[in-house]
Amino acid sequence: MKHPQEPLDESRQGEALLLNPEQGSGKKLYLESYGCQMNFSDSEIVASLLAESGFSTTRNLYESDVILLNTCAIRENAEQRVRTRLRELQHLKKAKPTLVVGVLGCMAERLKDKFLEEEKLVDLVAGPDAYRALPALIAEVESGQKAVNVLLSLEETYADVSPVRLTGNGISAFISIMRGCDNMCSFCVVPFTRGRERSRDPKSILQEARDLFAAGYREVTLLGQNVDSYLFYGGGPKKEFKALSPEEQSLAVNFAKLLRMVADISPQLRIRFTTSNPGDMTDAVLESMAAYPNICKYIHLPVQSGSTTVLDRMNRGYSREQYLDRIAAIRRILPDCAISTDIITGFCGETEEDHQETLSLMQEVGYDYAYMFEYSERPKTMAARKFKDDVPAETKNRRLKEIIALQTQWSKLRNEQELGLEVDVLVEGLSKKSDQDLFGRTSQYKVVVFPKKHYKAGDYVRVKIQSCTSATLLGNSID
Ligand code: SAH
Ligand code: F3S
Repeated sequence: MKHPQEPLDESRQGEALLLNPEQGSGKKLYLESYGCQMNFSDSEIVASLLAESGFSTTRNLYESDVILLNTCAIRENAEQRVRTRLRELQHLKKAKPTLVVGVLGCMAERLKDKFLEEEKLVDLVAGPDAYRALPALIAEVESGQKAVNVLLSLEETYADVSPVRLTGNGISAFISIMRGCDNMCSFCVVPFTRGRERSRDPKSILQEARDLFAAGYREVTLLGQNVDSYLFYGGGPKKEFKALSPEEQSLAVNFAKLLRMVADISPQLRIRFTTSNPGDMTDAVLESMAAYPNICKYIHLPVQSGSTTVLDRMNRGYSREQYLDRIAAIRRILPDCAISTDIITGFCGETEEDHQETLSLMQEVGYDYAYMFEYSERPKTMAARKFKDDVPAETKNRRLKEIIALQTQWSKLRNEQELGLEVDVLVEGLSKKSDQDLFGRTSQYKVVVFPKKHYKAGDYVRVKIQSCTSATLLGNSID
């Protein structure tokens, strides 16, 4: 099941992103993206910035002049994948010495020296806040130098850049509303690779959403590492609301308000968002969701662990009880809301009892879906500096299997609970299995497949659910 959160569908990892081939007249860019939806969203900004400089994109590696890989550093295996890919690309460079190969995104800062000097795998390295410099960096490489810019910014939000929609179905798009993260969860590399948290001007967010709606899009997903701490009051680095001047306070837009502003664009535009943080999610956000039928009833609320001791070591800023209090608030204010989560298994010092607490929390919540990972130590993080990665690989793996087995039961049960219900489906396109069927999603993000009849992508269709598989609901439209 493809969630708007991460990680993206395996099959799309590394997929070449294509700009309208007619666009641009100059050099050809081959852009590959790895990791989370934020990276795919960033690639759309990169394509837009380079299109302005005359680049067009290609899906054919062999005709490209510039190859850029937008990388992910969240887990060790994500990095491994990019290294393998860079080695594969070496033969192209041998065949075409003018070819420029560059690394963008989260691996840039950490591995710039290694990539450029030791392994000589790339010519160009640009961090997530340096994309405006790309045309100049490419020109530097062409003049015979190695080019690097990994400076992180306190202000850059690319608010004025109108992203080129590279992939997707023309129905559902992502809008980045903030960058970076200030949370410093001890296992997480994001604050180091993406820098400080900053919120984008709501005016530009609204404009982008309106433009998408006018172009036929019917769903936007607002993206940020911690959307609940979105706060805009005129730009600049993050401050607490109470630290703002009276003028800034009068301008301030928080996430609960932003949701309402975007939802007001049209009742025909669905709003989703990710990621919510259990420590920061307010009832005001839940109330905004309840007030607007077009704000989807689905929350991704990563718990990471069911044990308060582990949560403390993870520096997550909430206990098991506080997390469950947020779940209770969701159930109270949004009784029909689906909930998914992220879980890390085998974090430093995790005991068998801690693991049992994760299983019991999963049992208590009954998630619709979960992403489950084995802990992998990331350089620079607090966990890497302070704790020992002491849970043996086989234990991590066994615990992961137990967690997955439990979640599989819950996912199935949650799907079975939909049988016989009538749901509103936003159609995204033809079913992968049959061109006589359409597929779309419910407000709760469940995939529904039903006979096509006269319907098409972008339609809202009332469907009665008749059966289900583990990942999909099957039904018939009610005409
Ligand atoms: N901002 C989001 C998610 C960031 S990364 C949040 O608040 O949770 C996405 C997921 O990757 C995390 O939720 C976590 O479950 C997982 N993850 C992050 N660092 C990890 C690590 N070092 N090892 C294993 N999983 C990790
Ligand atoms: Fe990472 Fe925690 Fe931020 S998981 S992205 S530091 S909320």
